[in-house]
Amino acid sequence: MAHKVKAAVFPVAGRGTRFLPATKASPKEMLPIVDKPLIQYAVEEAIEAGATKLVFVTGSSKRAIEDHFDTDPELEQALTEAGKDDLLKSIQDIVPPGVSCIYIRQGKPLGLGHAVLCARAAIGDEPFFVHLADDLIAGTPGCLSQMAKLHAQHGGSVIAVETVPREDTSSYGIVAIDKSDKNRITAIVEKPAPQDAPSDSAVVGRYLLAPEIFDKLQHIGKGAGGEIQLTDGIAALLDQSPVYAYSFSGVRYDCGSKLGYLQATVAFGLSHPETGKRFREHLREVLSD
Ligand code: UTP
Repeated sequence: MAHKVKAAVFPVAGRGTRFLPATKASPKEMLPIVDKPLIQYAVEEAIEAGATKLVFVTGSSKRAIEDHFDTDPELEQALTEAGKDDLLKSIQDIVPPGVSCIYIRQGKPLGLGHAVLCARAAIGDEPFFVHLADDLIAGTPGCLSQMAKLHAQHGGSVIAVETVPREDTSSYGIVAIDKSDKNRITAIVEKPAPQDAPSDSAVVGRYLLAPEIFDKLQHIGKGAGGEIQLTDGIAALLDQSPVYAYSFSGVRYDCGSKLGYLQATVAFGLSHPETGKRFREHLREVLSD
């Protein structure tokens, strides 16, 4: 029977080396796309999908994330006195009433699977979302809402996938899918070489996982790159409970890479009510030079 998913885990303990030096002292998840940090887009997507418990697995240099989701009475007072009501609302609405934030420290960056395992005590025995904030997905409804809908229909775990060029399989977890069984995943491999990849369906940063994953993560040990891989935990889960691949509707931007980040900034800048029109004109001018 499918449960309503009420908790979301945000693993934010990675070092973001692809974005150094920007990420030396501040988290990559705080990089803004126009006027909101990546992690706020992530939280909004999870709340839209029904999450009321937000679990952040953090590491060193990540304190700005906690500050972002905390109240700031001095700033609120200053904005009230200045009559800047819209800005006041924009900071007061970041965490709506009824939503709570929990922070857990991952002492060492031992891998994404280990980061998810760190959230176990906060999640308990319920299905939960995992959201990787650097995969920004523009979609209506959001990707996690789409996945929650599928889960409500036939239970199990759900993993978002996207078709990638064959030559890129070594950058992703790649799945084999049984199309005759509601796209049930039959195999999952972390970063295979193109000739070894079971398909061109790549896992992206959205998961809806059954709590049985925790026992698997506890026992799998280190995998690729000497890290505890979420992919290996999911592979161990496949025989025990169904895991479905879901081709989401929306556009994904890999904001952990410089190019993806710039592409997201352009797309969101063009559709932003404040900047869209003039930014479009500006881009036309720049590109016609
Ligand atoms: P990435 O593979 O993108 O690693 O992690 P990274 O450290 O963030 O970035 P690069 O590759 O060095 O530039 C995927 C996700 O898993 C989290 C990261 O924060 C990111 O959201 N993660 C990874 C952890 O929380 N802990 C880990 O030990 C590893």
